[in-house]
Amino acid sequence: MQLNPFSHEFHADPYPTYRWLRDHAPLYRNDELDFWALSRFRDVLEASHDWQTYSSAEGTTVERIDPAAFGERPMMIFMDPPRHDRLRKLVNRAFTPRRVADMEPFARATVVRLLEPIVAQGGGDFVKDLSAPLPMEMIFTMLGVPHGDRVELRRHMDASLERAQDSPIIPQHAIEAMLAMLDYWTRLVAELRRRPNEGLISALLEAEVEDDAGGKTRLTDGEIIGFCSLLGAAGNETVTKLLANAAVLFSRHADAYARIREDAARIPNAVEEVLRYTSPSQYQGRVTTRDVEWHGGRVPKGARILLLTGSANRDEREFPDADRFDIERKIPVALGFGQGIHFCLGASLARLESRVALEEVARRCPRIAVDEARCVRVHMSNVHGYESVPFSV
Ligand code: HEM
Repeated sequence: MQLNPFSHEFHADPYPTYRWLRDHAPLYRNDELDFWALSRFRDVLEASHDWQTYSSAEGTTVERIDPAAFGERPMMIFMDPPRHDRLRKLVNRAFTPRRVADMEPFARATVVRLLEPIVAQGGGDFVKDLSAPLPMEMIFTMLGVPHGDRVELRRHMDASLERAQDSPIIPQHAIEAMLAMLDYWTRLVAELRRRPNEGLISALLEAEVEDDAGGKTRLTDGEIIGFCSLLGAAGNETVTKLLANAAVLFSRHADAYARIREDAARIPNAVEEVLRYTSPSQYQGRVTTRDVEWHGGRVPKGARILLLTGSANRDEREFPDADRFDIERKIPVALGFGQGIHFCLGASLARLESRVALEEVARRCPRIAVDEARCVRVHMSNVHGYESVPFSV
């Protein structure tokens, strides 16, 4: 069997391939695409914590990236310590649990505003009408993007994510939209330096931590711009996918939907189960910094290796009856947000958005009936989910 992260068939149902890998090739090698892969829960967990051996500095997808491409606007997700830790510490100063918790009323108001027309019409597109606009509004608000700029910025963000069918090559108009976004962040950061507001960017401009020499260090404008671009990419796509995956699962499992309608206290664990069952982020790519041994095989230094969280989350060695969707399942260690030093910065925000969205959906929609024949999947190498989910309520 082959693991081809670009195959559309694989995107439609990666789980039989994952099962085969776990059982027959727990250390897998793909010569054609030149990568290795680990698929069992315990192996993925161990490697996720070992940043010394598994480096992020050449990107986290099958396709390698050149860190130099980001120049003065680096992203910490593509860095190893100590550079990663300096940025993460600075960002933690501003991206506080308090700032996230304060977003709950805005999240709820946004969900209600987006849901009301859907309910009135008896349905809509779960992605386009709800799960895509929600995280974007949340991030714009957190960062402090002025209202007047949002429509244009959202247009650029949407365009930057568009991909041609069957091609891993990024189309020219998407590249232009990315550049327009960088241009926008550059102007906004300069403007907020002159006139700060209540948002995260202004807080980042102020954030200070001690450096190794005992002095103080702050983020440069370029680092803040890199961070805004990272949040745009990491914080939008994933929540959009998680919520739409939830809609599809609750449509398939009307009994589970009835249970969250009955008691909203079941929703946080249901979110964890959706994250386990269909992780929006299917793998984290790394490059080995030394030779390593797994299951009797040797991975040489400098090799690309995928930590298949999407597979690890279905490992029956860890989760009894792993292919069963069970919103009451205990999940002692979650892998859907990664593990180790790159553990998702936005995990608490993602959990909050997902919980609030499902609470309001459950309160207002007696049923979720997804028209699966008309659903359209995204085709990206490590993001799993839909770009369109037509449904009725
Ligand atoms: C369901 C939603 C989400 C999922 C499944 C998800 C998943 C992940 C995963 C798996 C990683 C680890 C990457 C690695 O180890 O290479 C990660 C990192 C990250 N995520 Fe998320 N994420 C979600 C939502 C968000 C949101 C809402 C934000 C922003 C506010 C965000 C910001 C980040 C950032 C900045 C990192 C890099 C952290 C670092 O390098 O230290 N994510 N996310």
